[in-house]
Amino acid sequence: MSYAEFYRRSIETPEAFWAEQAELIDWKTPPSQILDTTRAPFVNWFAGGTTNLCHNAVDRHLAARGDQPALIAVSTETGTERSYSFKELHAEVQRVAASLMELGVGKGDRVLIYMPMIPEAAFTMLACARLGAIHCVVFGGFASASLASRIEDATPKVVVSADAGSRGGKVIAYKPLLDEAIRLSTHKPDAVLLFDRGLAPMDLSKGRDHLAAPLVEKHRDAQVPCTWMDATDISYTIYTSGTTGRPKGVQRDTGGYAVALAASMKHIFDGRAGETYFSTSDIGWVVGHSYIVYGPLIAGMATLMYEGLPTQGLDRQPDGGIWWRLVEKYKVTVMFSAPTAVRVLKKQDPALLKKYDLSSLRALFLAGEPLDEPTARWISEGLGVPIIDNYWQTESGWPILTVANGVETTRSKFGSPGVPMYGYKVKILHESTGEELTAPNEKGVVVIEGPTPPGFMQTVWRDDERFVNTYWKTVPGKLVYSTFDWGIRDEDGYYYILGRTDDVINVAGHRLGTREIEESISGHAKVAEVAVVGVADALKGQVAMAFVVPKDGAVLGDAQAALALEGEVMKQVADQLGALARPARVHFVGALPKTRSGKLLRRAIQAVCEGRDPGDLTTIEDPGALQQIRQTLSPRG
Ligand code: PRX
Repeated sequence: MSYAEFYRRSIETPEAFWAEQAELIDWKTPPSQILDTTRAPFVNWFAGGTTNLCHNAVDRHLAARGDQPALIAVSTETGTERSYSFKELHAEVQRVAASLMELGVGKGDRVLIYMPMIPEAAFTMLACARLGAIHCVVFGGFASASLASRIEDATPKVVVSADAGSRGGKVIAYKPLLDEAIRLSTHKPDAVLLFDRGLAPMDLSKGRDHLAAPLVEKHRDAQVPCTWMDATDISYTIYTSGTTGRPKGVQRDTGGYAVALAASMKHIFDGRAGETYFSTSDIGWVVGHSYIVYGPLIAGMATLMYEGLPTQGLDRQPDGGIWWRLVEKYKVTVMFSAPTAVRVLKKQDPALLKKYDLSSLRALFLAGEPLDEPTARWISEGLGVPIIDNYWQTESGWPILTVANGVETTRSKFGSPGVPMYGYKVKILHESTGEELTAPNEKGVVVIEGPTPPGFMQTVWRDDERFVNTYWKTVPGKLVYSTFDWGIRDEDGYYYILGRTDDVINVAGHRLGTREIEESISGHAKVAEVAVVGVADALKGQVAMAFVVPKDGAVLGDAQAALALEGEVMKQVADQLGALARPARVHFVGALPKTRSGKLLRRAIQAVCEGRDPGDLTTIEDPGALQQIRQTLSPRG
């Protein structure tokens, strides 16, 4: 079947189309209603069906491939490498599930997971799915304030964590960050389960904290059956940034998600049971949920979980070829990474790409940020396999725009993630009139018309109103989902993504809210006002740049004092939010450019930082403020 026909069926007869896709997973009870849109924009997929994500990822493979690898965990931080067969994974997951049960976890309870990239993190996610508990994974690179706001919102019964993570040989103790986060949060978990890797000492809080090892050992032979979940029951929430400082809990269902992932593994990733999938992402991000843990396992593939830099070997010596060494060793057929990682590798010796037998590899998928043409060309020539750009969001759970080579081999175009995937009605609308832009190459906002396909977010956790108002009410007079991305569509129907319409920035493929960073900075005693913008960066895509109006004007004329305060502000952000959010520079100015009604002109600041024309400035209150920003930037403000 041609992709055009496949796509057309998904849009014109969604029920027949998705009923067929639903056969890719195991159901305890098959669904009685494929699609229910009576509460649009809320969508129910596969109502009446019961299933379980862990069953589909693990148990159902036991008969056919119980002894085949399921999870391969490689850490170049600790120099460890371990493979678990489906049978072993099944046992490990049940041990953790039984331990969680002992701590009181049952269906619908939240379990917040704050862990590094160790196999126990995947065991815990799968254990939650097995019990019907809702997991909320928080990226291990986030610090206590970020973690606290997520604990507050998720109200977890149990938090699962570890003594430490490690990055480039630097140990980051998690326990003190977690203790501080729980102290900051008004919600207190009943229990904390801690995996000890022996990297950092832990102070245990009596009655609350439990070491995992003895509990897991006690439940060595545990048999914990899967809890059958309604297709529409919540599987997990994952927090993501938006326009306000308060992170949103993106909530996902069970049955729709399982079907969406199984279908994407077949039609988009073309990954087959018994093969190995290698995604270099982190379980703290949506890519880690969909394409480290659930997607590959649902497809019966082994998933390779990697902790460490792309440039460090198992002997912990520099090795820019480590990923290719792993592709060769584990005969990886499908690989998934981010453009930033490729830009890092581009700085390594190109001979490294030729040193290993990469013949198993069929494609490299890249997502999370725009893929620039030089990077795409370099890696495409080096690997000799298709490089497949794919565009999606935490909210969608799986690709919105790409090519579905599993359906029909489709040409990719440099600079474009591709065409709308089956199930997605993607449109480009005029920013202010909301009119659909149908002529080629007209810039507008990329939106999705409902009903959104399976796997797409159900709502914002505990806040239906926020879901509707934030995502579905941005275009006057129309109920459409806004991606908050600018885009164009060319004459062949290929889309190009041109950056965010809101205050979200993308640092090394990681999505961050500038408002959260601003809130952290304004908490500093010497800061009167602040604006944070994302500025183009050759390696990371974007970096955060802060402009601060200090309370004490003296800083403005004193280079030494400015440098000291810059250091303090940077440290505060790193301590509260995590190193990822630390601004690349903090500049001090006397005033910030605002409109007459007091709105910060962030886009104008960003344009000036990138040496572009700031555009229409008729509403600016004080043009001198923008001029000051220009001056601080040159030569080295
Ligand atoms: O701005 C788009 C950018 O990343 C945002 C979503 O980030 P996140 O929620 O972290 O999900 C990442 C899932 C891969 C989008 O709104 N983005 C993502 N993929 C691409 C992209 N921008 C350009 N090209 C892409 N392929």
